[in-house]
Amino acid sequence: MGSILITGGAGYIGSHTVQVLRAQGAQVVVLDSLVTGHRKAVPEEVPFYQGDISDSGLVRTVVEDHGVEAVIHFAARSLVGESMLKPDLYFYENTAKTNLLVANLLQLGVNKIVFSSTAAVYGLPEVVPISEEVPTNPINPYGLSKRMIEESFHWLEKAYGLKWVALRYFNAAGASLDGSIGEEHLPETHLIPLVLKAALGQREGIQVFGTDYNTMDGTCIRDYIHVLDLAEAHVLALKALERQSASGIFNVGTGQGYSVREVIKSAKKVTGIDIPVVEGPRRSGDPDVLIAKVDKIEKALGLKAKYSDLETIIASAWQWHKNNPHGY
Ligand code: UFG
Repeated sequence: MGSILITGGAGYIGSHTVQVLRAQGAQVVVLDSLVTGHRKAVPEEVPFYQGDISDSGLVRTVVEDHGVEAVIHFAARSLVGESMLKPDLYFYENTAKTNLLVANLLQLGVNKIVFSSTAAVYGLPEVVPISEEVPTNPINPYGLSKRMIEESFHWLEKAYGLKWVALRYFNAAGASLDGSIGEEHLPETHLIPLVLKAALGQREGIQVFGTDYNTMDGTCIRDYIHVLDLAEAHVLALKALERQSASGIFNVGTGQGYSVREVIKSAKKVTGIDIPVVEGPRRSGDPDVLIAKVDKIEKALGLKAKYSDLETIIASAWQWHKNNPHGY
């Protein structure tokens, strides 16, 4: 087995996947522009290239020098709000650059790719839990930028034999259990890190975005999956491609949802801190409930979430934030 190229391996989900792959004995090489990633999230021993996925010469060097056999492609922009303001940036950075990357990989003889897609492709779902079969209808450029890539893969498979798995992530959360790496986004917009920053006293409190949703306590429900379980999904997807399984799209979640209030309650319990809560208006574009139907990934790839109960998610994230109050 040659190396696995991890684009975006210095990012949140990418760095945890690097850790899980290495623990299983895989050879990895990381390509990351460090626009949003962190050099320190990748261990010194891992071959690391700082650069862009659109740098065709660099991609060739990395593939040839490391005998790359397959790619896990995380590198992307992933802020929904930013995508509304700068749709062109998302279509360029995500869709166009992925198209170029895949064309280069195919030319170099690399035809296996695991791709980071998103629940944002579903838009405002009519039925939950959401199965992979329902029509996708993204309501922001971020979701559309990812759906276009998924669609392109069908044609690249027919024309050139690309073998691919697209993983539609629900809400990634938590941190490595050894405390070595965790979640740091600049700016931070996600619920769990923001609640924990409030617990650390770095913010006045946590604002609940909307209390009049059609859910049991009025706040939005999301399907939180531990980043280590999400990382494992990539490893299983790679193994499936290696055994020549069919290409395809899989949700990655747990099938279980928690409301914003439940997350805050659990964070208060885990931290032992009475985090101040302010109820505010809705944030635009938030669907009431997003929960994945997960039978497909459980049956076809054998994913079993091990760390995704809410308390383990929050306790691991808390350990990271407490030990790294200012991030990497
Ligand atoms: N929320 C708050 N207060 C905050 C931050 C978030 O109440 O300060 C709420 C949000 O309104 C939402 C829930 O907490 O109801 C979760 O919000 P996140 O921002 O943590 O996550 P999202 O569900 O909005 O976003 C995730 C991924 C995106 C992806 C999207 C798919 O992070 O990349 O799911 O819909 F696009």
